[in-house]
Amino acid sequence: ETDADDPDCPESLIVVSNRQPYRHEYEDGDGDERSIAVDEPAGGLTAGLDPVVREASGTWIAWGDGEADFAVTDENDCVAVPPGEDAYTLQRIDLSEEAVDSYYYGFSNQVLWPLCHEFPDLIENGDTWSNDFEWYHTVNERFADAVATHATAESVVWIQDYHFGLAPRLIRRQIPETATIAHFWHIPWPTPETFAECPAGEDVLAGLLGNDLLGFHVDRYARLFMECVEQYLDGAVVDRDRWIVDYEDGTTHLTTDAMGVDADTYDRAARQDTDVDAVLAELGVSPDVTLGLGVDRLDYSKGIPERLAALERFFERNPDRRGEFTFLQKATPSRTGIPAYQRLGELVRSEVTRINSRFGTDDWQPIVYTEEYVSQENLCALYRRADAMLISPLLDGMNLVAQEFVASSVDEDGVLLLSEQTGAHERLGDDAVTIDPTDTDGVAAALETALEMPADERRRRMRTLREDVFEADLEAWMDSQFAAIARLHGSRESTDEQ
Ligand code: ADP
Ligand code: F6P
Repeated sequence: ETDADDPDCPESLIVVSNRQPYRHEYEDGDGDERSIAVDEPAGGLTAGLDPVVREASGTWIAWGDGEADFAVTDENDCVAVPPGEDAYTLQRIDLSEEAVDSYYYGFSNQVLWPLCHEFPDLIENGDTWSNDFEWYHTVNERFADAVATHATAESVVWIQDYHFGLAPRLIRRQIPETATIAHFWHIPWPTPETFAECPAGEDVLAGLLGNDLLGFHVDRYARLFMECVEQYLDGAVVDRDRWIVDYEDGTTHLTTDAMGVDADTYDRAARQDTDVDAVLAELGVSPDVTLGLGVDRLDYSKGIPERLAALERFFERNPDRRGEFTFLQKATPSRTGIPAYQRLGELVRSEVTRINSRFGTDDWQPIVYTEEYVSQENLCALYRRADAMLISPLLDGMNLVAQEFVASSVDEDGVLLLSEQTGAHERLGDDAVTIDPTDTDGVAAALETALEMPADERRRRMRTLREDVFEADLEAWMDSQFAAIARLHGSRESTDEQ
């Protein structure tokens, strides 16, 4: 809940993100007979930001990716949302298939995503990236133009994520000097050695230094960003003590703020009297097993094959757990137009089948794998029911699932196994069981430790984890971002008055 009177909530707010908060979809029917339904923001950042933009009566600019989206927009591609309340303006940027292929599937997700997650081998080759970069530039320019049509001297522009590495500088050229541009980079920042592999790396650094404020989840990413600027951007002056970079005629302040989840909502959802045994039965899991749980987007950064290898090792080492322990892996297909994601999906499915045929029996499977949609209520019931939550990314900017699990663990008896390579580990590492996701034996042993942990120790750890997750929740993250923005915004306005 965000208070309109909150002094730090900007009065003129323009949010820029790739995904839109409301999507209009055609329902069954033919031609003009078709009715249009609206998806609500599903969770995470879009759901969290929506009330803030409402209170500010602001503007949200996003890619309009639904077929029906443009059936409802005016000639400027704007629509008032939420439906019926008309609290703010959503401007949808209509992108051609070619633009989406190159900007979203190309430069965003086959250059910047693998680069920032330290998978340089998955960066697309030189024949394709330059065309994709041109489209990335074109799309960033279209978003910047859209921002410029809404911006006033008092505006705060708040950009989300790696889809907009060039936009800040493009926006700065077009909006009043007193308006403030802030950006949050939700994924890791790579080491200078890896960043050397970034095609057009200098342009991306220069683009990001069009921001007044640039936020990361943890200190390490901000430090690596400063190192990359020092090494690769001529003319930039980095003040490593004050976390400030001067470049051309602007100054960028760096901050770190670990994003949280809406903990109360997960807590409440987990306390509903959902019949979790029925949810498990639907998925083919017997209600009385000891339950391990994994919930991820099907992404190579999440370490799912490594997790499966550790589970195989666990069942080798613990024959008595066969028939007694089941690992439920919920995976959501993602970016399926990209070969690396298709290969990952095939590998994960075939490994699950292989491990299940090795250990499974007529009435028990060691790993139950599903790509079906799970409602938030059922997801929270599963988090609550899980005895061990296994989170094993090879690298992850934050990992919200870890925090959602903690917020949903209302009985305080589940154990969180958490990769040391996640932003979440910086906050939760002390009371989670830390794992190195590439150490197959180590993860198998950590799972044994988790399942054998005495109840009082589980409770003690989970209580501390819950204190952290409730205190540093999504609202606290937004308050802290807006406080940093307000400080800069105030100083820009007062400089202008002098
Ligand atoms: P990423 O942003 O890389 O996908 P996070 O863990 O930070 O990773 O956030 C993932 C979000 O997607 C969480 O809010 C999580 O609840 C949601 N999610 C992932 N898988 C599912 C699923 N199968 N069903 C419902 N929500 C899911
Ligand atoms: O965490 C990075 C991120 O791009 C989020 O912004 C997004 O919600 C999530 O991954 C899912 O990815 P996509 O928007 O490409 O489906």
